[in-house]
Amino acid sequence: MTQPRPLAGRPGWPAVVGPVQVRAGLVGLRPLRRRDGKDWREMRIRDERFIAPWDASSEHGWPERHSRAMWAGHRSVLRMAARRGEAAPFAVTVDEQFAGQITLGGIQRGALQSGWIGYWVDSSRHGRGVATVGVALALSHAFGPMGLHRVEATIAPTNTPSRAVVGHLGFRQEGVLHRYLDVGGSWTDHLLFALTAEEWEGRLPGVLAGQASSTG
Ligand SMILES: CC(C)(COP(=O)(O)OP(=O)(O)OC[C@H]1O[C@@H](n2cnc3c(N)ncnc32)[C@H](O)[C@@H]1OP(=O)(O)O)[C@@H](O)C(=O)NCCC(=O)NCCS
Repeated sequence: MTQPRPLAGRPGWPAVVGPVQVRAGLVGLRPLRRRDGKDWREMRIRDERFIAPWDASSEHGWPERHSRAMWAGHRSVLRMAARRGEAAPFAVTVDEQFAGQITLGGIQRGALQSGWIGYWVDSSRHGRGVATVGVALALSHAFGPMGLHRVEATIAPTNTPSRAVVGHLGFRQEGVLHRYLDVGGSWTDHLLFALTAEEWEGRLPGVLAGQASSTG
């Protein structure tokens, strides 16, 4: 896939990252597209039981949160944030098929050069390293072309798969964010994980090798 033309003053965006061949298939990142909407809606509606337990509360029901209008709004908010240089909203692809999302958000420049990362993967592909490889590609892009220095992830203590993902990538647990996010109507604690550019330096080949050789 050819690289899109970069936006002035927005290092590393828009961008195509990878793809890389791992046990799950050919895993890559590209900017979210309008036509991803059908897959986004179908997958997330079907995967309510995997995603909803970790998602912020909403006044809307699950199908309503995944209507065509909600997709358009979601994509437009992300696009505007990307244009302001505050986000990098990627689609994860496996063998060129839409398979989930990885978003770098909350990007701050100046003396911080930091952001957070969030992700979900279609359940039909769970447990094959798609998130681990996708987040690894996003980190290499964040610490490389985007020039960030620190990436954070906030994860509910009971979200074992997500904790496994950041564990594979060498994130450090830095603390507990008490009553951090309203999930299902309750303020839930989250664990704060972080990784810096120095810590990530040289780690991508090892992560990819681990995901290429594991069986699963
Ligand atoms: C978290 C998520 C993105 C992981 O995607 P994935 O592609 O399956 O991730 P990977 O295959 O790279 O790694 C998942 C790890 O969790 C493990 N795992 C998967 N399901 C599990 C479960 N129910 N209990 C315990 N571990 C589990 C896998 O075995 C794997 O660990 P391993 O490589 O050490 O075996 C996916 O589960 C998801 O989309 N969940 C819903 C949204 C979400 O939680 N997002 C993150 C919010 S912080």
